[in-house]
Amino acid sequence: MDLLNIQAIILAAGKGKRMLSDTPKVLHKICGIPIINCIKRTLSSIGIEVPIIVLGHKWELVKEYTEEPNLSVLQKEQLGTGHAVKVCMPHLTDSSKDILILSGDMPLITPETLNSFIEFYYSTKANLSILSLDVNNPTGYGRIIRDNKMGVERIVEEKDATSIEKKIKEVFSGIYLVKQRMLQEALENLDNFNMQKEYYLTDIVHYIYNKYGKVNSFKAPNSKECMGINDRYQLSEANLYQQEQIQKKLNMSGVTIINPLNTYIEWNVKIEKDVTIYPGVNLLGDTVIESGCTIGPNCTIQDSHISKNSHVFHSCINQSRLGENVKCGPFANLRPGSILKNNVKIGNFVEIKNSEINDTTSVSHLSYVGDATVGKNVNIGAGTITCNYDGFQKNRTIIQDDAFIGSNSTLIPPLTIEKNTLIAAGSVITENVKENSLAIARSKQECKENWVPAWKNKMKGNLTKK
Ligand code: UD1
Ligand code: CA
Repeated sequence: MDLLNIQAIILAAGKGKRMLSDTPKVLHKICGIPIINCIKRTLSSIGIEVPIIVLGHKWELVKEYTEEPNLSVLQKEQLGTGHAVKVCMPHLTDSSKDILILSGDMPLITPETLNSFIEFYYSTKANLSILSLDVNNPTGYGRIIRDNKMGVERIVEEKDATSIEKKIKEVFSGIYLVKQRMLQEALENLDNFNMQKEYYLTDIVHYIYNKYGKVNSFKAPNSKECMGINDRYQLSEANLYQQEQIQKKLNMSGVTIINPLNTYIEWNVKIEKDVTIYPGVNLLGDTVIESGCTIGPNCTIQDSHISKNSHVFHSCINQSRLGENVKCGPFANLRPGSILKNNVKIGNFVEIKNSEINDTTSVSHLSYVGDATVGKNVNIGAGTITCNYDGFQKNRTIIQDDAFIGSNSTLIPPLTIEKNTLIAAGSVITENVKENSLAIARSKQECKENWVPAWKNKMKGNLTKK
């Protein structure tokens, strides 16, 4: 088997009418990855690197989101799958290559199945192999028609099938591997005399069978992974199936998922061993969770890195980085650019944005820390607010090591609070605070002795008069 001798073509020009969507079908996502890129990745994982991608409907958008490398070819009018491959032919530069054709709407196909299929093609010395599957409900698929020796003779589309043919449960997946010369010739002989007035690629099967023979089919070991996405129900089904595969793989590599049914983990997320995921957790994008962490219940973590032995619960974290042994939650909101170093503690109703918080610092309750650099071993008391936005621009607050910020302090930057300082509770700090100083910025307390009894007597007198 020689993968380098294969040129892949992915068909992705169709609108995907049945999706009822403004977004092209191949850009809908399976566990966070656009369908087109799911297929691209699978191909690249078996060493097929630069597929030709046939684009049409909203082609600029599809091109923008399709991962490189690839060669895109425009099919201006979508006249059918056969026509789609025809527009690729002038771009095939090496005539010795065999052509692997995949439908752009089957994201679940695995590298293992594709490899077995390719191996089958070469070991049987076929002119054309197709990947077929057995299904309970064949609706929507092309049916495989076999000759009296049980060889593959042709594929009949649902709309053209007789009522007897419609009952056939062996159907076509949308994947072909074929000799280039024969493909070329079969395409030149395609017509659109069928119910949909389309040039069906499936018709090459009958052409090659008739003229050259050696057409065969490889049955997919698992029909689920060959499913095509044509509508939103199939999209949900595929997401559910892929989610199960993602979680199973994590389980097998030492991750505990307490309730798989209400946990959602996207395809790119990396989780090390001995992590426990509690119910209600969404792990999105390029998130990494290192070993020994517990995540959840009820967290959404996106494009973030959580280092060893950290504990995050009931919190949202987006584009942020947590060091080791960090405690975060309940009800913390870490917005983009939050960098928490080791042993940091972020407590309830705390929002952090674009800030670096160094080792062993605590922000335990009801605070907003935005555009700040906070040193080591700092205590930020309940209700502390950095007033980072002056109505025109964002200003930076710097709090150095070992500072103690008393509760309900308002810090108005640009501002530097130096090492080992104490900010008295309730202060409004507008000027820099020097190392080792105490800063108090609140009105002085006044005590009026015996004021209350006199006041009460006066109030009672008022009442009896009425
Ligand atoms: C196709 C097969 C059917 C098979 C099924 C498997 C044909 C005629 N039928 O049907 O036998 O069982 O896939 O899922 O091939 N496309 C283009 N240009 C076009 C038309 C389609 O690029 O002019 C692309 C679509 O974007 C899609 C793929 O080809 O990614 C398949 O087209 P689709 O309309 O989904 O074909 P099916 O009706 O599912
Ligand atoms: Ca389809």
